Amino acid sequence: MSRSERKWDHIRFALKNQEKTSSVFDEIKFIHQSLPNIGMSDVRLDHTVGELYLSSPIFINAMTGGGGEKTYRINKELAQTAKQTGVAMAVGSQMAAIKDKSQRFTFEVVRKENPSGIIVANLGSEATPDQAKEAVEMIEANALQIHLNVIQELTMPEGDRDFTGALQRIEAIVRSVKVPVIIKEVGFGMSRETVKLLSNIGAFAVDVGGFGGTNFAQIENERRKRALNFFTDWGIPTPVSIIEAASLMDHQLAIIGSGGFRSAIDIVKGMALGAEAVGLAGYFLQTLVRKGIDSLIEEIQTLLQEMTIIMTALGASCIADLKRIPLIISGETYHWLNERGIDTKLYSQRSLL
Ligand SMILES: Cc1cc2nc3c(=O)[nH]c(=O)nc-3n(C[C@H](O)[C@H](O)[C@H](O)COP(=O)(O)O)c2cc1C
Repeated sequence: MSRSERKWDHIRFALKNQEKTSSVFDEIKFIHQSLPNIGMSDVRLDHTVGELYLSSPIFINAMTGGGGEKTYRINKELAQTAKQTGVAMAVGSQMAAIKDKSQRFTFEVVRKENPSGIIVANLGSEATPDQAKEAVEMIEANALQIHLNVIQELTMPEGDRDFTGALQRIEAIVRSVKVPVIIKEVGFGMSRETVKLLSNIGAFAVDVGGFGGTNFAQIENERRKRALNFFTDWGIPTPVSIIEAASLMDHQLAIIGSGGFRSAIDIVKGMALGAEAVGLAGYFLQTLVRKGIDSLIEEIQTLLQEMTIIMTALGASCIADLKRIPLIISGETYHWLNERGIDTKLYSQRSLL
């Protein structure tokens, strides 16, 4: 199967994979504040992450391009949505267009549609520094994502089997490109140990890409004759992964949350746990493909409005304030953090006052 056919397979199976009734954030509850002492007009959602100014902390995470006309159309509409709503957008892996120049148009359209937006390039950790520079130039990107997807590759029938030297390759990319580099997972989460290694090589940010949303083990298992079922519930849930990353007090990395976000309350919880920005992929794709671009634009505007309402209730006038809002962590999430030696009282006993 060609790389571009596989891209379309992923979209088809990801759409099937979105039906979820519970959320990995259900075990996080904010402590109600009866005297928030702010109004909705006091809440600001714009936020600066390192050198990137974001007019809103949510963004469209990496999905597509490289699969011909169909992926061109999706990227075009995602870019139009990003422009209209002011959110940043990452493209899917550009390796397809680096290997086959005839696929470049499927990515270039994103910059064409949104000349002054924040756009993020994307490649896997197998990339060379020259390929990374090419990906950034292709869409005049403001930042570059390098994705880590070991479990997806191992489950993919035609996937990679050797992951030696990835950290060194990423370090070479970080040193050679001129834009900030974000290292991201694709739905299996990042541990504190992984984040520590990435902070040592000078990455700008980690996108923890946790378990709880799009499940690439499940998607790839649908494409296999004999499923590797042991990978279907493999991974670090998104809230746990954000907290693991945040628990490393000595690093300079920005933390980005993604994996399973579908509602304003979960986005606000993710940022209260430590994320500076939150990426949504599968949910936005589903909304676009099933309901159309106008519905996706409306959905993003509604999410931003609801985030403002929630922050008003909490008395948080900016994203930084959310890091001091008290919350309770229970159930399996609590158990996990406890076993990892992370003190949940840092969250339950903090205060904005
Ligand atoms: C159809 C589809 C294709 C994806 N392709 C890429 C990709 O090329 N590069 C990448 O880094 N992540 C890719 N992802 C992963 C997402 O960026 C994100 O990390 C993951 O889906 C978890 O977020 P979600 O639960 O909001 O979907 C893809 C996701 C989907 C749904």
